[in-house]
Amino acid sequence: MRRAIFPGSFDPLTNGHLDIIKRSSPLFDEIIVAVLNNADKRPMFTVEERCAMIREILPTVDTDGCTLIVDSFSGLTADFAKRSGATAIVRGIRAVSDYEYELRMALMNRRLEPTIETVFLMAGEEFSYVSSTLMKQVFELGGRVAGLIPELVEARMREKKI
Ligand code: PNS
Repeated sequence: MRRAIFPGSFDPLTNGHLDIIKRSSPLFDEIIVAVLNNADKRPMFTVEERCAMIREILPTVDTDGCTLIVDSFSGLTADFAKRSGATAIVRGIRAVSDYEYELRMALMNRRLEPTIETVFLMAGEEFSYVSSTLMKQVFELGGRVAGLIPELVEARMREKKI
């Protein structure tokens, strides 16, 4: 049983995240999309709203037989990976600029849990500029985000704005 976690804030889930989930699914039997509950941040969506949205969207992803689970966690990613019985942490790299931060996290996570490897996957180049932060900013200012986030996410963002 090859189990991985795909941790992140997912505030909100973007098509770039879905691309990484799709790409990682042939590599694992089970992937837990792990939504960080970060009390320090002021998110657009609550953890419950983010998890619910992701649960609605994931069945549309062709996973090649890989089981997708959505869960939330607080504290260290390495601890969550360990107690989930995962052997890998999946992270997406969009551009070289992501690499330095991701490398530091991967090395720290490996120091914390030497049995868990970080697996980097290269996001599709069409998503190389897509981030949750940019999507929220463009949306808030009335810009078009269609095609970059799932339709359901866009609809929920619209509801938040009203
Ligand atoms: O995709 P994001 O939103 O940048 O995800 C960042 C995330 C959640 C992976 C990172 O902030 C994290 O792992 N936070 C949990 C706390 C933790 O483990 N910190 C040490 C990381 S080495």
